[in-house]
Amino acid sequence: MQIFLDTANIDQIRQAAKLGIISGVTTNPSLVSKEGTADYEAVVKEICSIIPGPISVEVLVEGTQAMTQQAKLISSWAPNIVVKIPATSDGLEATSALAREKIKVNFTLCFSLNQALLGALAGATYVSLFVGRLDDAGHNGMEVVKDIVDVFAHYQLATQVIAASIRHPQHCVAAAKAGAHIATVPYKVLMQMIQHPLTDVGVTRFLGDWQRISKQ
Ligand code: E4P
Repeated sequence: MQIFLDTANIDQIRQAAKLGIISGVTTNPSLVSKEGTADYEAVVKEICSIIPGPISVEVLVEGTQAMTQQAKLISSWAPNIVVKIPATSDGLEATSALAREKIKVNFTLCFSLNQALLGALAGATYVSLFVGRLDDAGHNGMEVVKDIVDVFAHYQLATQVIAASIRHPQHCVAAAKAGAHIATVPYKVLMQMIQHPLTDVGVTRFLGDWQRISKQ
């Protein structure tokens, strides 16, 4: 399973990039607006220059025509951009049109197997299933991820499944077990993934033991 970073924060992206395990970044309009700038293009271009992998960038308009047009503009900002199109009927039509023109789409805001399946049939490169938001609504988001992974494998669909809306490290464990191709995780969760108290205790003990013998 690949790890994408789910943020538009440049410092977090730079920090995470140093770890050498980030394969891409997903953003959305809420995440960009949290950074306090209305210069969408500048933020996106900076992210694209830091991480060479796929950078998902959402359209900011509604309607098939408007989304398709804006998606083409956004995808011209950098070669590694993947355009995020919402899982609506307009979004489906836009995704099909963009896929025909070889523009990569992340079919986003998916909450069901049906939405993900239609996105894949339309030619989306990725579908994003929002696990945390489904859990919040009383469903089991990760079960839907597993179903999508199984169905895509059964029908040999090339579309990759992103487990999105990740809230805690257990979501990452479950996403990996469910066979998600990618989990897109907030920086805080990424840091939690590497953390283990027994590792910290072990490092302290090893260094302490070594210092004792080396001082004799
Ligand atoms: C995914 O691409 C989205 O940016 C993100 O995972 C949404 O997560 P949230 O439900 O925490 O807003």
